[in-house]
Order: sequence, then structure tokens, then C-alpha cells
Amino acid sequence: MPDPKLDELTPSHVRNLDVYQPGKPIEELERELGISGAIKVASNENPLGPSPKALAAIPKALSQLHLYPDAGGFALRRALSAKYGVPLEELALGNGSNDLLYQLVLATCEPTDEVLSHKYAFLSYRLSAQVAGRPFVAAPTTPELGLDADALIAAITPRTKVVVLGSPNNPTGSVVTRADAQKVLAALPARALLVIDEAYAEYAAQWPEVDHVDGLELARQDKRVVVLRTFSKIYGLAGLRVGFAVAHKAVIDLLGRVGRTFHVSSLAMIGAIAALDDDEHVAISAKHARAAIEQLRREVKAKVYPSLSNFVLIDCGKPSGPIYDKLLRMGVIVRPMAAWGLPNHIRVSVGSAQEMPRVIGALNEVLA
Ligand SMILES: Cc1ncc(COP(=O)(O)O)c(C=O)c1O
Repeated sequence: MPDPKLDELTPSHVRNLDVYQPGKPIEELERELGISGAIKVASNENPLGPSPKALAAIPKALSQLHLYPDAGGFALRRALSAKYGVPLEELALGNGSNDLLYQLVLATCEPTDEVLSHKYAFLSYRLSAQVAGRPFVAAPTTPELGLDADALIAAITPRTKVVVLGSPNNPTGSVVTRADAQKVLAALPARALLVIDEAYAEYAAQWPEVDHVDGLELARQDKRVVVLRTFSKIYGLAGLRVGFAVAHKAVIDLLGRVGRTFHVSSLAMIGAIAALDDDEHVAISAKHARAAIEQLRREVKAKVYPSLSNFVLIDCGKPSGPIYDKLLRMGVIVRPMAAWGLPNHIRVSVGSAQEMPRVIGALNEVLA
């Protein structure tokens, strides 16, 4: 039998999909270079590790692994409801928050409906549209790579269905101001939804003097707002894959229709419930990230963009591919930004207190 032909197997929107390139795992780099002690500051993980409360709770649930998880995620949704004052029926769980965005596009967009964001936004926004075979539109940004609300509004068409904005956005670290959020909402077609992706919300809260939108407040004001949050970032549970959406109950109902049954594991929910209660871990992590970002902006000899998250975007002033390779050979894994349309940039996540001097030293050596 001849090999199956890709173009006969798949519709064109799948064949032409961009493949998301995750950050290089530490083990892979160490194996390739025969080194040890590599540092990964490439995937915006929490360098302080998982919430200790989650670590304590998970082993207690191991004996129940023969049982399917609660498909409705009642206990975690109840905990989220109590913490954020959101009714249970306005909460949905996902296998990470990305999962919920993919579900949302699938559940709401007709084939010609458009997903709209801006350039240099988190790649999953484009992928969520492409996977579903829906058109993705990227509006221009401000010169500082942040949301240009007027340009975004100018890109709205009668087919716009999902507008998605990261606040803070990955990889720029920029936030949506309250005024811009109101402006976008005022221009949003009645049939469209505005998704505020707040994967880094708890980090942004560490910067009270910087004006930025509160997605939950916005969702209370307007039924078309969907907020996405995750346990992957400040809670340190990226490996568990759990996130949640806050939205009008009609939208939550739609998510439930396209989501797979049992898509959030029992250990993920147990870990998340415990982590949600771990205010101390959140506070220490947010404080550490702010200090590390201030240090990166002070000490790295290149343009380091302001960021209210746990990573920074750095303009190397020259193609970043060779810089990325040199850093790898020094055992420091960062993220090159060419796939985001930023060939001169890298993204660097905050490291632990022990890692930061080595990260900054390596950056300054290769950037010189
Ligand atoms: C802006 C943004 N949204 C969502 C995610 C994905 O989160 P999750 O692990 O919950 O799917 C990330 C992860 O890097 C992100 O940067």
C-alpha cells in the first residue's frame, strides 16, 4: 500500500496549520549538548514551583484514581464561585485555559465568522481559529506593540465573532487599560464575544499603580465578556492542565457541548482546589516576579519592554536566532520570537533568585 497522502487525508485548514513550538525542555537540551544544570526561562512557568498546598493535597487523592473524575467539576467550580463571587453556572473548567478558547471558537463561530486579536498576541488565539477552519484577523498594534484600540475597532467586520485580548498579553507583557476595554466593548457587534485572557492576572495585581482592566468586573457589566484564567502560571500547576472560564451561563452551556467529557483530571481539580486557597504562595510568587522584572529591566543591556506578568520581551536589536543558540550552549533556554513575527526579539521568563544572576549574565554576554 502507498503511504497516505496528506492532501487527501485532511481539509486544507488542517494541512496548512502552523504547529505551535513549545519551549525546549531542559532534559532535551541537556541530552543534546551533554551538559547538566541548564535553566529554562522559556515557558512563563512559576520558578518557585507548585503551590505547596497542592503538593500536599494530591497524594491523598491517589487511591481514588480508579474512578472517573467528576465531569461537572463541581468541587472546583464551587471553590472558584466562593473565591470570585461568580455563580456556579457562570463557570466552566478546561484542560488548561487554552482548551476553553478552542472550545469557544468551535462552539460559537460559523465557518465564515472571524476571530479577531492584534499582532504579537498569544499564538493560541490564531491557532484556535485555524484549527476550527475559521478566519483569524490580526489588527495592528501601537508602536510599543500594545493594543491599539482604534486599530482593533477598525478591524471589526460584520463577521467578527470572537475578539480575544490578553491582559497581560504574551509575549509583550502589555495590558489592556480600563478605558480601552470599554471602548472595545462599545464597538463590539451585539452577536460577538470579547474574551479577556487573564492567564497572568495575579501577577498584574502586583502592580496596583498601573491601570489595567479587571476581566471579572467587565464580565459583571456585560454579558458578552468571557474571562479566561489558569492554574498554569502563578499557582505553578502547568503540568496538571487546568484552567477556567467565567462567562454568561448561555456561553458556559455551549462550552459544555463541545468540550470532551472528563477532560479535566481528578488530580488536576484536587490540586487546583488546594492551590486556590494558597494565598501565601500567590503573594510570594507575584512579589518575586515583579522584583525579577524590575531587575531585568534595570540590568539587561537591551530594550526590555515593561511587563505586568512573569516574563519580559527583549529587543536584541539584531536577529535573535543566533542569540538563542548561544544562550542554549550556555545552558539557558529562552524563547525566540520569530514565530510571533518578531525576528529580533526573545522572551525571557523570570527565574528563581538563584537563577536570575546567571540568566542576566548570559543575556548581557550574548547581547554585547
Ligand atoms: C496569555 C496566555 N494565555 C493562556 C496560556 C495557556 O495557559 P494554559 O496552560 O492554561 O492552557 C498562556 C500560556 O503560556 C498564556 O501565555
